[in-house]
Formats: sequence, structure tokens, C-alpha cells
Amino acid sequence: MSKVAALQSSFHLLFFFVIFLCLVNTIFSGVTSSFTRSEWPAVDIPLDSKEFAVPNNQNAPQQVHITQGDYDGKAVIVSWVTNTGPGSSEVLYGKSQNKYDHGAQGKSTNYTFFDYKSGYIHHCLLDGLEHDTKYYYKIGTGDSAREFWFQTPPEINPDAPYTFGIIGDLGQTYNSLSTLEHYMQSGGQTVLFVGDLSYADRYECNNGTRWDSWGRFVERSVAYQPWIWTAGNHEIEYRPDLGEVSTFKPFLHRHATPYEASQSSSPLWYAIRRASAHIIVLSSYSPFVVYTPQWHWLRDELKRVDREKTPWLIVLMHAPLYNSNEGHYMEGESMRVAFESWFVHYKVDVIFAGHVHAYERSYRISNINYNITSGSRYPVPDKSAPVYITVGDGGNQEGLAVRFSEVQPDYSAFREASYGHSTLELKNRTHAFYRWNRNDDGKQVPTDNVIFHNQYW
Ligand SMILES: [Fe+2]
Repeated sequence: MSKVAALQSSFHLLFFFVIFLCLVNTIFSGVTSSFTRSEWPAVDIPLDSKEFAVPNNQNAPQQVHITQGDYDGKAVIVSWVTNTGPGSSEVLYGKSQNKYDHGAQGKSTNYTFFDYKSGYIHHCLLDGLEHDTKYYYKIGTGDSAREFWFQTPPEINPDAPYTFGIIGDLGQTYNSLSTLEHYMQSGGQTVLFVGDLSYADRYECNNGTRWDSWGRFVERSVAYQPWIWTAGNHEIEYRPDLGEVSTFKPFLHRHATPYEASQSSSPLWYAIRRASAHIIVLSSYSPFVVYTPQWHWLRDELKRVDREKTPWLIVLMHAPLYNSNEGHYMEGESMRVAFESWFVHYKVDVIFAGHVHAYERSYRISNINYNITSGSRYPVPDKSAPVYITVGDGGNQEGLAVRFSEVQPDYSAFREASYGHSTLELKNRTHAFYRWNRNDDGKQVPTDNVIFHNQYW
């Protein structure tokens, strides 16, 4: 071959190699959405708004909310507040409206926070329920009584279809209202709430009345279907300057969780099984390093996961382990170091987090080879790894985290700084349809869709 021919041949090879690289880059690079919008100002809805209306009758139950009350979905914890007196902690319930042939007795508690005194907070466990059944329930007495209903999940079964909603960092602005209203039209059956609820701690001296208004705000959904609670940084409420030195005080008084059913020692980390899903809730702001109670519990709970019965393994936490936004960058890094190898080993399907007020979804990647001296500093594609999704875009008063890193990391599949919520439709043991729904012009606009193939089956 002549020198010219050899040169031409090398040039052609180089040319095709460059084209190949461009194609690979197009296939695997992520999308940074250019959509930006803040439809309403990030300020809380006024307290005298109808969105926070107090029920009319004297001492009527308000801020009604339910959550799963056991490991497998045959129990519900009903919670509510009465403001002017302890009232009754009893729940009447049954399978027909106006025919309450069962009753359960709960307990009430209250707390003070600086100069705020809470109402009477009632928690009542309804257990021994039948799966896949609609129950009506009634709380309060006489003219003040109020009635609601909920649907229990199907029995634990690998092919039981079920739809979860995912909401984070909700707060109580008009953007929050938009998120909530859109979620309620989505067909979601249970909310996986990834932390930062009321943002009451943003008020000077910490305004407990904003916990109460938030309770009334979300009642329209959470009185009728369980929300699974994860604690965020706005729930810590550590205020030594106000003489408040315990942590998570209002959250723990207001939001019961079924932690004992999963052998946890704290309401802040626990697990439930629901339909075809095993859901693990972690606390980003409680000790989790090696040998701590949360570390021990997670190690044991992961061993209890039975993918033959619950194929979908989902983890919730507040601070994301992977985040390419400038907001809260690397705050989840210490938990990533503590737990990521377990998540890969147990083939977790998806990890939902909040905290960052924007939306982001990763590819399946891991960074478990990095051990300080290995030099393998970058996350790499890993088929056994979870997908990481940040949904901290509920719409609270702190506004959006609009600044993503200028160059989108290879691991980031889609990111957008606007408000919304997600839905995860588990279809059977092998497939689930996931989408993120942007709040836009009063309509629900599905923006990011992906079909998940189960990591076990
Ligand atoms: Fe947060």
C-alpha cells in the first residue's frame, strides 16, 4: 500500500471512530431541560385562606391523616387533632357507609414548642383489616363527627399491580397546592413522601400554627389514602436558642409510623410491604454510620426482603446520594459511602429522595469501587445499581433550585428545575411504568417517562 493510501485509510478509520463516539455520546448523554417556570411566588398561602379552613363544629377533628399501620398492609393508623379539648380518641369503622360495626380506641398526646401549644393529637390503630377492601371510618362525636374512607392494598403478591405517588418538600404555597391537586388526579393509591413537610420551622420562633395549617392542607388526600412518611431536615427543629433541644419533636408527635412492625427501634427508619413492593424508609439526619442502630437495622431489613413475594425494592430518604444541582451538592455523600454497596448487592430497583428543589433521574450507576486509594473516582454504569430519583420539587416557600452543574454528569439521565410529582405504576413482577409530572399551566404534564425492568426478575 502506498503512503498516500495508508494515510487515507487511517483518516477513514479516524473519521468513523469520531462518528461512533458522537453516536455513543448521543445515546448515553442525559438531558438538561431548558424549561423554567415559577408560576406563583414562593410564599405560603395566607392562614385565613379556604385551603386551611377549620371544620365548623366545636372541637371537630381536623388535620386527619392515615398511614400504614403494620408490615403487610392489614392495618392503618388514623391520626387527627382536636383543638379545644381532648375529645374522643375512638375510631368507628366498617365496610359500609353509615354502618360502623367496628371500633378501635386510640390515644392522644400533645406538645409545646417554645410559646406554641399543640392541640390534642390522636393516633388510633385499626388492625386485622381485610386486604383490597374499602373501609369507611368516623371520628369525633355528635355534630362534630367527620367521616372518611380508605382502600386497603391487595394481599402481598409478586404480581399485584399498585400505583404509588412520590412527593417531596411540599410546603404550603400555591405551587404546593398545584402539586397536590395534580397528584390527586393521577390515580396514585399511596404517597411515598420523601421528607420536608410543612416548613413551619421557617417562621421566626417556629410557628406551630403552620404545622396545623399544613395538616388541614393535605387532609384532602391523606385522610383517604396513606402517606408513607420520611423525615427531612425541616423536621429536625433543633432550636437550643428557644430552649428546644430535642430533635424531630413536632414531626414525631404528629406523624406515627409502624416502625415496630419492621423491628426498628425508631419511628424515623422502618419498612413496609405493600402489594408487590418492599419499601425501606431511611433517616438522613439520624446516625447511620457503621454500628449505629439505623445501620444495624438496615443490614437486617435488607436480609428480610423476599423478592419472590415483593419483587420491587424501593428505598426512600431525604438527602439524595446522587445530585448534580448546586443546591445541597454532596450532602448525601456520607450515606452513599455507608450504604451504596448494600443497595447494589441487594439490587434495589429505585431510590427516591427530596431535599433538592428540582427534579433529576439517574441511569443505573455506582461508585462502589472508589476506596480512597483506588483512583476509580467516577460513577460507572452498573446493571445491579438502583436508579436515583430526586423529587424535591413539591413547591415549598424556599423556591426552586435552578442552578444545575454546568456540565451534566454522565450518570444524570434527565434534570429539570420546576415543580411536580412522580408516579410509579407497578404492573407485575417484571415491569413498572414511572413518570414525573411537571406542574404546568394548571394541567398535569407528564415530562419524564421510563419503563423499569425489575432488578430481580
Ligand atoms: Fe430538605
